[in-house]
Amino acid sequence: MQLDVDITGKTFQNAAGERHEVLTGLKFSLQSGQVAVFFGPSGCGKSTMLRILLGLDHDFQGHVTRPAKARAGMVFQEPRLLPWRSVEENVRLAAPDIDETKLSALFKLLELDAHRSHYPGELSLGLARRVALARAFAVEPDILVLDEPLASLDDALANRLREEIAMLVSSRTMITLLVTHNLDDAVRLADRVFLLSARPARILADLPVRTPRHARGDAEIAAIKASILRRASIAVADRSVS
Ligand SMILES: Nc1ncnc2c1ncn2[C@@H]1O[C@H](COP(=O)(O)OP(=O)(O)OP(=O)(O)O)[C@@H](O)[C@H]1O
Ligand SMILES: [Mg+2]
Repeated sequence: MQLDVDITGKTFQNAAGERHEVLTGLKFSLQSGQVAVFFGPSGCGKSTMLRILLGLDHDFQGHVTRPAKARAGMVFQEPRLLPWRSVEENVRLAAPDIDETKLSALFKLLELDAHRSHYPGELSLGLARRVALARAFAVEPDILVLDEPLASLDDALANRLREEIAMLVSSRTMITLLVTHNLDDAVRLADRVFLLSARPARILADLPVRTPRHARGDAEIAAIKASILRRASIAVADRSVS
């Protein structure tokens, strides 16, 4: 299964009627089993790109080829749970056919057992994010999209949730796209790191991370981070002279 992306342009109109270019030059292909992490400045167009990839926004130049009948699971920047439905109902609505064994395993892994009957208004942001993750995985996705799933969580919770995401990602063969502002997340989870420019977003560098996720120790992670930062500064310098 493969996802082919070639976005040559995307503009938004502001309230004054002026058009702003948000995306330009995003071309890449991803195969099943790959985890692509997108790393770029705030406002550069990452969420806009994800919406286009998922087929939620058709107003752009270029083309995106998603595998036929691919199921998508997504965690938006805001958890977007239905407030009048319990945790369990939120997940079951997305995946009506899920069996109890799978659902229980998912709730157990994400430590949501005690919250099945709670309503979104009773949850902390970290819990709500975990419910959004459970919902995305419950659909058994072929394409998983995670838009800053660890943002604004404390370090301990972010670390735990990152481990849980790593476990879920390796439990299923799918195409995963993850947006983050955190280089640690990028290096711990990615098979490929895409560095994006400021708006309008284009790909500055496409960096493979070749060491398997489970074999990345602290020293290796520090080395990969340093190499990404080096490549990023070269890419930014190249861009500023071109
Ligand atoms: N519906 C819209 N109408 C007009 N402008 C929009 C719309 N959605 C996004 N934009 C603008 O497009 C640009 C990119 O927004 P987007 O949300 O994709 O950025 P982002 O990279 O995800 O940022 P962040 O890291 O802060 O989440 C921003 O300047 C934003 O203001
Ligand atoms: Mg965003």
